[in-house]
Amino acid sequence: MRRFIDLADFQREEIEELLSLARRLEQRPEPQALAGKVLGLVFFNPSLRTLASFQSGMARLGGTSFVITPGQGTWQLETRIGAVMNGASAEHVREGIPVLASYCDALGIRCFADGKDLARDLAETQFRSMDELVEKPLVNMESAMNHPCQALADWKTLEDLSVPRRAKFVLSWVNHPRALPLAVPAATVHMAAMRGMEVVVLRPEGFQLPAPIMERARRAAEAAGGSLRETPDREDALSGAQILYAKEWGSTAHYGDVEGDARLRAGLGDWCVGDAWFAQAAADCRLMHCLPVRRNVAVADEVLDGPRSVVQREAWNRLTVQMAVLHRMLAPRHAH
Ligand code: CP
Repeated sequence: MRRFIDLADFQREEIEELLSLARRLEQRPEPQALAGKVLGLVFFNPSLRTLASFQSGMARLGGTSFVITPGQGTWQLETRIGAVMNGASAEHVREGIPVLASYCDALGIRCFADGKDLARDLAETQFRSMDELVEKPLVNMESAMNHPCQALADWKTLEDLSVPRRAKFVLSWVNHPRALPLAVPAATVHMAAMRGMEVVVLRPEGFQLPAPIMERARRAAEAAGGSLRETPDREDALSGAQILYAKEWGSTAHYGDVEGDARLRAGLGDWCVGDAWFAQAAADCRLMHCLPVRRNVAVADEVLDGPRSVVQREAWNRLTVQMAVLHRMLAPRHAH
């Protein structure tokens, strides 16, 4: 495997093989599998899980890693093509990224959306401008519209919990003080659609997922024998739900408009998941969230601390599936 950029690049069988390898590495560790290999990790944006789980996973497989946080102890990197670099950035990614790639055997890059221009972010302009500079294996550690490592971890979590393939999966918008990127909701809806689930996106007016994301996920759902729809009606969405996946994201009706977004979310404080949300759901309905989560803004203590929450298992699976991805990318062929 040379690229892990988007779950949609893979066939279902390939994803199942990755999940199977993740389970194998969970049960039978291979502490020498990546001996002598080096993973480079470039974080243009903050992280807790992605940073720690990639470093831990590489170490558990016998390899090493280095971390670059541009502008924090290293030169600030310019990402804009054609920029006149008379500002804070001392180096352009066109030089910096190939240099970093030359020092390692695989590179991971996290580069969030600008959050200003929806078309530009949907086109993955920033991530693609770096992707084309890297000949080594490359991992998307969250781009403008994708987070394939989170999506694969969540797919494994659903398998670990024996959630039926056709179960009702509700991706719900939840409250946050400000607009957050669309990467996780876009990756999540696609993952659940690819798995063949009955997927419902629950969101207030003004927070519809962009049409290209919904259309792509709808095609994946149809191919897998599942379905996808969107609704603002909480009761309709959650009735019979087996998974409630809570996520915060910015208004698509006011994309890049901080004040417009703030006006819209001002009246949405009740979009904080509490026990009452599960009244019509399946008795064993689980709460998923990629983390980080703001307690009592997005999800109430009573849910995060209760038996429905599987957020810790999701975070654990970031480690297990990323080890599988790194193993596929870097382990000698006979070790596969
Ligand atoms: N879910 C996730 O990617 O977490 P971090 O932002 O902490 O890496």
